[in-house]
Amino acid sequence: MSRFFKGHKDEYAHLSKVDQPPEVLDKILPWLRNPSGFFLFLGSVGIGKTYLCSAICNAWEEKQEETKKIGQRWHDFYYVDENRFISQLKKTMSDNGGCVEDLIQDRCDSNPLFIYDDFASSMQMTDWKHEMLYAFIEHRYTKGLATIITSNLSVKGFKETFHPRLVSRVFDCRNIVVELHGDDRRQMKYA
Ligand SMILES: Nc1ncnc2c1ncn2[C@@H]1O[C@H](COP(=O)(O)OP(=O)(O)O)[C@@H](O)[C@H]1O
Ligand SMILES: [Mg+2]
Repeated sequence: MSRFFKGHKDEYAHLSKVDQPPEVLDKILPWLRNPSGFFLFLGSVGIGKTYLCSAICNAWEEKQEETKKIGQRWHDFYYVDENRFISQLKKTMSDNGGCVEDLIQDRCDSNPLFIYDDFASSMQMTDWKHEMLYAFIEHRYTKGLATIITSNLSVKGFKETFHPRLVSRVFDCRNIVVELHGDDRRQMKYA
């Protein structure tokens, strides 16, 4: 079963409606046909990162429906935004104990496509958060698992914020990085 937290997805988002510079779709569409490694979509607030995630999730669900009709099974995916991910991890740790490493392994290893929205977006970069994000990257990277990451951080911001061992894995030259700067759609005036 795919899992998506209800209430966070734009049910009407569609890849055909993703209004971004052509390089975004030119890169994401081939990647989605054969996803592996990391796809990073970096950009300022309101540029359409979460919308793109919703469109991808909807496309993935459509594909799952289609393949089900012919008796086959399309890969699962997992979408989460950082706030939700952190609160889930903290809750599991307080309920059941366990270390971040093991929890991350449980969450991350079983999902062929993992969509992590708003990487490093929550206000404070505590040691715990550094540890958790590194564990996440390390698990996905080592197994070559398909991972979409969106973030408000630029490439430069990643390099300034994180230890080189995280940066090295995230920006492995086999990964795809799209960095966009533009207007906040939430603040745009429509005619
Ligand atoms: N292609 C699009 N078509 C219609 N609305 C869009 C599109 N991309 C983004 N939006 C809208 O713009 C607003 C900001 O987009 P969002 O994806 O939440 O930005 P971000 O996650 O980058 O902060 C949201 O209300 C979203 O629904
Ligand atoms: Mg967002």
